[in-house]
This record gives sequence, C-alpha cells and structure tokens, in this order.
Amino acid sequence: MSQFQSGILLEHRRFAIWLEARVTGDLDALRQGSKSFLQQLEALQTKFSDAGLGAVIAFGDALWRDLQGNASALELKAFAALGNGIAPATQRDLLIHIQSQRHDVNFALAQAALSAFAAAVNIEEETHGFRWIEDRDLSGFVDGTENPQGEARKDVAIISAGADAGGSYVFTQRWEHNLKLWNRMAVEKQEAIIGRTKETDEELPGDQRPATSHLSRVDLKEEGKGLKILRQSLPYGSASGTHGLYFISYCHRLYNIEQQLLSMFGERDGKMDAMLRFTKPVSGSYFFAPSLDVLTAL
Ligand code: HEM
Ligand code: MG
Repeated sequence: MSQFQSGILLEHRRFAIWLEARVTGDLDALRQGSKSFLQQLEALQTKFSDAGLGAVIAFGDALWRDLQGNASALELKAFAALGNGIAPATQRDLLIHIQSQRHDVNFALAQAALSAFAAAVNIEEETHGFRWIEDRDLSGFVDGTENPQGEARKDVAIISAGADAGGSYVFTQRWEHNLKLWNRMAVEKQEAIIGRTKETDEELPGDQRPATSHLSRVDLKEEGKGLKILRQSLPYGSASGTHGLYFISYCHRLYNIEQQLLSMFGERDGKMDAMLRFTKPVSGSYFFAPSLDVLTAL
C-alpha cells in the first residue's frame, strides 16, 4: 500500500499544532513548499527521535482540483454550513497538522512550515493543542475512549486501494466552550448531554441516554455496521480567554464524518447535539491528505 502521512495514526501524542491557510501564490510555490516541508519534517524526526513527531499536509477541494484534477478524492468537497449556520463553514485551502510529545519540536516544525510555504499561502488560523489531565476534554469528560485501536485505526482512517490508496479524508472544526455555564450544570445533566459518565467514563445505557446526547448523535450504524472515524482532537486555548476543543477526524470515507455532522446539526431528524448548549463550532473545513507518494510527486 502507498505510505500514508506520518501524522494520521499516531497514538496519544501530548501536543499538536494546526495551521489552516489560504493559497495566495502559484501552484509551483505550493509544490515546492510541500517538498521542503517534508524534508524539514524528516530532519526534525531524526534529530529529536524521542518526540514521536508526525505531520500531515492536507488540501481543500478547490486547491486539490487545481493540483490533481477530478480523478482523485472523489468524495472531497467544500464544507458547507450546517444547522442554519450553527456550524459555520470557513473552508480553507491547506491544513498542516503537527503532533508529537514535545511542544518545542512541534513549534520548530511550524516555523519550518511557515518558511517552506511563505511564497504560497497566508495562514488564517493557528491553534496549539495540548492533552489535558487524564485525556479529558476541558468539559471534564474523557475524550477518545471509543476511538479505533491498533490495526483498526488504519482500516478506519486510510484508503486501502485504488488511485487514492494511502490517502485520508480530514475534517477540522474548532469549538469554543462556555465552561462557566457548563460548570454550573449538575454532573447528571452533563452526563445526559454527553451520554457517558463523567468520572468513570462509562457509556450510559441507550434507554438512559437522550436522543440528543452527543453519543446518540454520533454513534451511528448502517446495515449493522458502525460508521467509524478516527479522532485526533485536543483541547486548546488559554485559561482566562478563549478555549475549547480543536476537533479533527480522519476517515477513509468522507461519508462517515458527514453523516455524524448531519446528525449533530439537526439535518437528519431535526434534533441537534445537546453539547451545543455549552459549546459552539467557529470553523469548519474538509480536506484530503494524499499518500506520501502522491504528495512527493505533486
Ligand atoms: C465521542 C466530546 C465533537 C464524533 C465523544 C466523547 C466525548 C466527546 C467526551 C466520549 C468519549 C469517546 O468515545 O471519545 C466531544 C466534544 C466535541 C465533540 C467536546 C466538540 C466540542 C465531535 C464531532 C464529531 C464527534 C464534531 C463528529 C464529526 C464522536 C464520535 C465518538 C465521540 C464518533 C465516539 C462515539 C462512540 O462510538 O461511542 N466525543 N466531541 N465528536 N465523538 Fe465527540
Ligand atoms: Mg459505540
């Protein structure tokens, strides 16, 4: 199989940096930028081998069509707002996802990315993620429990055959939490909103879980099979200012991600995710992360 990019399947990294950018330069500057970025990534991986550094470069629909035409990433499209704008679309052209055990090494790679792509893009959003206590989201609930484990991560996240083998569809969505409001709610109420227990991280039985709970919205099945995705989200932000979750998921099909989003934002059965009572999405983009082979041959 074509080699997938190094940042997709990584497990349990402590820090991440996300750069979302709009293309301003010509395509050659972008191709050159990608090559240069991959070289810098390899150099830092060698120099700081303890960091478990990995990264992903992914492309929005418009840019991908300019680069590769219509024969690749057939499911890729621009993200459009959902739920009457409750989930806004900020579709960007380029995503760089960096993750490792070391924020300093991530930062060095982000700096390398800026110089590699300087002639080609304008960075519109930069987010620094960190793993919080006990793998919890800032809401206090453990995040990532039902993520695919081991070999299943690859089955879920990476396209296994065809022209796009080794590639992956990506969705990013930054959420801003209102923790003052959230922390005034009784724990039982919070648990009904998420669909799991807070301290012990156990799934609430289906009949004790409102249809609007986050779990009920996203734990979807079709013909008996789960619509699985691989999440690599982390908390971000400052204690006194803006903070929340930078949601990012990878999947071999865009379809699975989209169905979950339609369900969360009331586009399947009119019901919205109860989490919207304390948190709101402020960005949203779909991307395609090609295999390393395709990326180096752009
Ligand atoms: C599960 C939090 C957004 C998809 C969970 C869990 C938590 C959580 C606490 C339970 C533990 C776990 O299995 O990881 C959040 C927060 C979000 C957010 C705080 C944003 C503020 C999203 C979005 C999607 C999504 C946008 C999909 C596009 C999932 C999936 C599961 C999950 C697939 C696992 C369900 C299962 O199979 O049990 N989330 N989530 N989440 N979330 Fe989210
Ligand atoms: Mg489940």
